[in-house]
Amino acid sequence: MAMRDIVQEGDKMLSKMCRPVEKFDSKLAKLLDDMAETLKAAEGVGLAAPQVGILRRVCIVNVGDKDGLVELVNPVIVDQSGTQSGAEGCLSFPNQYGVVERPMFVTVKAQDRNGGEFTIKGEGLKARAFCHEIDHLNGVVFKERAERMLRPDEIEPA
Ligand code: CO
Repeated sequence: MAMRDIVQEGDKMLSKMCRPVEKFDSKLAKLLDDMAETLKAAEGVGLAAPQVGILRRVCIVNVGDKDGLVELVNPVIVDQSGTQSGAEGCLSFPNQYGVVERPMFVTVKAQDRNGGEFTIKGEGLKARAFCHEIDHLNGVVFKERAERMLRPDEIEPA
């Protein structure tokens, strides 16, 4: 495994539409392994392939619950309900947080690294993370969805 550089705000990769994964090969496995290592080192809850410069529909989420690291290939939100409004950040926008409204519950259909289809549900932070990462695959970043950005004095020290 190897760490990959995370592209930062202003990089054109962040506004591109990503293409579906068609080959479930060792290159995809390596990308997912590298993304996992990169996410762990950055202490984030999610990472999308365009954030490491790969314009494919691949993302990972880890909110520290029983599911642990979730790998999502070609994910689609198939159901959503409720709303939540709260602070959200992104590894491509260090030290920036915005108030973003998201569904409280989502159901995502995706494929695993071998191409197997599965469905996973998320509530709260996990629902937020699924939505945030899938947005990345469509070239949308959280700032575009934020009602407003938090001021420095509103951000709790980590
Ligand atoms: Co992000």
